[in-house]
Formats: sequence, C-alpha cells, structure tokens
Amino acid sequence: GAAVPEAAIEVTQQGPTALVELNRPKALNALSTQVMHELVDAVMQLDAEPSVRAIIITGRGKAFAAGADIREMAGLDQAQAEQQQLFARWQELSTGRKGWTPLIAAVNGIALGGGAELAMLCDVIIASTAASFGLPEVTLGVIPGIGGTQRLPRLVGRARAMDAMLTARRISAEEALSWGLVSRLVQPEQLLPEAQAIADKLASFSPGAVARLLQASHAADNMPLDAALLEERRLFYSCFGTADQREGMGAFLEKRQPVFTKN
Ligand code: HXC
Repeated sequence: GAAVPEAAIEVTQQGPTALVELNRPKALNALSTQVMHELVDAVMQLDAEPSVRAIIITGRGKAFAAGADIREMAGLDQAQAEQQQLFARWQELSTGRKGWTPLIAAVNGIALGGGAELAMLCDVIIASTAASFGLPEVTLGVIPGIGGTQRLPRLVGRARAMDAMLTARRISAEEALSWGLVSRLVQPEQLLPEAQAIADKLASFSPGAVARLLQASHAADNMPLDAALLEERRLFYSCFGTADQREGMGAFLEKRQPVFTKN
C-alpha cells in the first residue's frame, strides 16, 4: 500500500504536562504543512484534555526549527498560497485554544523564520545557550508570514525588530535574553528540566485562574489599554464565581495547601 509518512512530531504526556517535540531532525525540524497540521492537531487535542495543564514545545536534535519548509514553498504561486491559506493554521495555537492551556517554548537550537515565529506565539519562551533566533525571510524573497512582523516588535521593540528583520541577522541566545525575547537562559542539558519545572509549577495552580491570566494577556496584545483594563476586571470578577477562588483564599487563611479543581 501507500507509504505512511513518518510522524513529524512526538507527543509524550506525563501527568498534568505534555511534551511536544518537532521530529524532523534531518531537515532541522523545518515546519512543513505536515508538521503544522500534526502539531496544531496535537496541541488542540491536549488542550481539550482536562488533565493536561501545560504543554512544552521543543525540537529534537540540534535545531528548534529552521523555519518553514523552503522545499515545499519554493514552487508555489500567489494563487496557490492564497488558495491553500498557507500557514493560517499556526494562528490556532495562539487563539484557538478553548482551554487556554499554556504553551511553553523550550528553544534548544536555531529558531529561524517560522521557528522563531512558533516560539513567539507561545506564552513562555525559554532558551538554551545553544539557541539562536532570526527572521531571515527577506533573504529568500519573502517576509515573515506566521506573525513575525507583528509579534517581534511587540516583544522586543520596533528598533530591535526592524534591525533584526531588515538585516536578517542571527540573534544569539544571550542577546535574546537581554532583549527580553526569552525569559530564562540555561545550559543545554538544563533546558527540558527547566521547562518541566515551569510546567509543573503552573500545573499546580488553578486551571481556571491560569486560563483567565492567558485571556488577559491576549487582551493586552490585542486591545487598547482602556478596553484591556475593563477586560482584566471582567476576568478578575469572574474568578469569584469559581470554587478555586474560595479554595485558594480559604487555604491561605487556614494555613494549608490548596487543592484546585477546574473552571
Ligand atoms: C527546508 C531545510 C530548511 C528549511 C534546513 N533545511 N532548513 N529544508 N526548509 N527551512 C534542510 C537543508 O536543506 C538540509 O537538507 C538539511 O536541512 C540540513 O541543513 P544544512 O543547510 O545542510 O545545515 P547547516 O549547514 O548546518 O545550516 C543550517 C542553517 C541552514 C544555517 C539553519 O539550513 C539555513 O539557512 N536554513 C534556512 C533557514 C531559513 O531561511 N529559514 C527561514 C525559512 S522562511 P539536505 O537534504 O540538503 O540534507 C520562513 C517563512 C515563514 O520560515 C513564513 C513565510 C511566508
């Protein structure tokens, strides 16, 4: 029969956290259409699973991801790119999560083009000292198409973003830390343990509170300040409709550990 394509990602679930690994090491984890569909489907499935409280995304081998798959894109014309809605599904990772399960990018190596854009749409980005970032699309005759032109300036400021994109230069892990593009920088062997520690920590909190925090964070990215402040207050008030608010505050007053549930 027809050859079944090898899985381009690997999912490992461990208690309340899931590890999603890009698994095309020979192509430096280039983000083909197959990778996009598999990864988005896997994340949506994990997000819908009440037991999953945090999802770590990383790359197998030496790269995080060397960008969208150039071999696959090279022959496309405009009509095909539009008709295929090329890369549109990546946005689902950002705003399509009904459960608002946090995404943690653990950047182990090069994160170029779509690879950097994938990391930037996650809620937390940490990196190993072997990581590097860049948006070199202009060298290929295109521009970033998975959020790079919008998210990079919001994350690091316009001056740094335009410098990085217009020169296509490589941003080292140290520079990414100093820019605030990543929140933590660790030795390569510490990367997954560090990501796991973040995942375990936030998995221990109220899922409802964590989800509201992510919704408020999205409001910060998308709305004018006045509207976003109202949205924050609406989400804050709604916490008081949850059992987890009573449990969290009650446990503090009773000097015991809280046991959070859902909602
Ligand atoms: C497809 C890729 C790839 C990519 C690497 N490979 N990057 N295949 N798409 N983005 C493949 C190579 O063809 C090669 O396959 C194998 O992976 C190993 O790569 P090498 O180049 O041999 O490795 P090395 O010499 O170590 O160089 C690493 C590298 C280089 C500097 C990262 O691979 C590179 O520059 N890659 C392209 C990076 C890039 O421009 N990314 C942005 C893509 S555009 P073979 O079969 O020869 O062994 C993008 C746009 C998003 O992301 C949205 C646009 C609309």
